[in-house]
Amino acid sequence: MSDETVDKITLLEGLNEDLAHEYQAIIMYNTYAAAVTGIHRNELSKFFSVEVADELEHAQFLADKITALGGQPVTSAADVTYTTVAREMVENVARAEAETIERYVKRMKQAAAYGDYGLEAKLGDIIADETQHKEEAEKLLHGKWEN
Ligand SMILES: [Fe+2]
Ligand SMILES: [Fe+2]
Repeated sequence: MSDETVDKITLLEGLNEDLAHEYQAIIMYNTYAAAVTGIHRNELSKFFSVEVADELEHAQFLADKITALGGQPVTSAADVTYTTVAREMVENVARAEAETIERYVKRMKQAAAYGDYGLEAKLGDIIADETQHKEEAEKLLHGKWEN
């Protein structure tokens, strides 16, 4: 942990970036659940669907936290890459989750530097969720796929 202090504006900008990516994750999982094709459609559709609830919880927490800090939550999502190819979907998911973890690790450090240890702890819980999402997607990518 550095001694660098983080102001509220910087923390709020970061949390809004996180929120836009939680909305992205919700749209990504919901879209992929509907659009997935191929022999693995049934199981992948369920896999994508169940992630929506976790990401929605993260989005709710962030929007609530942003307003608690006096900020204005973003109302649009970061872009989602569309595909109907099952393996591409899982690759996109694994990459998005990895990038999300990186953002939250940075945000955890900023929350601590700002002095909000409750936020720091909560971001740790969210990182644990995202790590599970990433590992599940990576397990799907291991082994043989036929499309
Ligand atoms: Fe999330
Ligand atoms: Fe996730």
